[in-house]
Amino acid sequence: MRILVVGGAGYIGSHMVKLLNQRGFEVTVLDNLCNGHRDAVRGARFVLGDLYEREILDQLFEETRFDGVMHFASYIQVGESVREPAKYYRNNVFKTQNLLDAMIAHRVGHFIFSSTAAIFGEPIRIPIDETHPKQPINPYGRGKWMVEQMLEDYDTAYGLKSVCLRYFNAAGADPDGELGERHDPETHLIPLVLQAAAGRRPHITVFGQDYATPDGTCIRDYVHVNDLGEAHLLALQRLWDGGTSAAYNLGNGNGFSVREVIDTARAVTGREIPVEYGERRAGDPARLVADSRQAQTELGWTPHRADLATIIADAWRWELHG
Ligand code: UFG
Repeated sequence: MRILVVGGAGYIGSHMVKLLNQRGFEVTVLDNLCNGHRDAVRGARFVLGDLYEREILDQLFEETRFDGVMHFASYIQVGESVREPAKYYRNNVFKTQNLLDAMIAHRVGHFIFSSTAAIFGEPIRIPIDETHPKQPINPYGRGKWMVEQMLEDYDTAYGLKSVCLRYFNAAGADPDGELGERHDPETHLIPLVLQAAAGRRPHITVFGQDYATPDGTCIRDYVHVNDLGEAHLLALQRLWDGGTSAAYNLGNGNGFSVREVIDTARAVTGREIPVEYGERRAGDPARLVADSRQAQTELGWTPHRADLATIIADAWRWELHG
């Protein structure tokens, strides 16, 4: 089977490519390397290009008959999306539409989309299941939700089958230590905490300690990047088996506070992790925890690296040796 992975040089995409490769798929990666890393693409054909360029897409789809397309290429910083919405709508919405239109023109019918918990906005109930209202509060979340709705319409009109996977907090790294998180700038909690543990940062700043949570810091549902990869494979299999289009929330169903993450990182690394307390970061909900029972029952998804210490240990290996 031949899979096109758009954004396969990025954090989650590169782990996906490795998994697909291990399972015997023939993988082509399309990435513009604006945030990805060429050396993170292992065992796949690499095409440098941007979704903006319809000619590249036409050429790719003419050359190769893909059995599925996975789309990881997007900007991911919530704060930046508020300051620069044009950048986010162009990249995350318009370019995605370009990809979908090319797929339809070339009759490629199976699409897996990287969506996000940010489509829900400020949660009205926890844990968050698929029926929770979608009221995104920033351009990043709104763009992702727009694409989800676009996909529904494209299924109705053109028969394009898709699965949207709404990641909660993607974390961890390849257990073999070959791949990991390499964002620039890094904004995510676990890599920042581990950089502080490694002495590459003076401290970690905790954004707010007055939230309505037991220890006052925000609670998140951290899910291992390899477990997310497994969900993509199962989602594609669902479509190949003739399943209908769907959307799933992906998390472990366990929430950990920022303080708990830091304490677990101290235990895993055995290092001092200096902490400073700062202001709340705008747009951070107090608590985001997934109800992923639908992915478990409908896709047969079982996270294998759900334990927070395991997630952090994998990320630590990458921090030390990556
Ligand atoms: N945090 C800190 N200090 C830091 C960095 C983060 O205290 O230096 C806190 C945040 O305030 C938040 C938690 O750690 O409470 C997790 O923050 P991340 O930036 O790691 O992750 P987010 O929950 O903000 O974001 C994730 C994805 C986004 C997505 C969002 C959905 O990375 O792409 O979930 O709500 F939009």
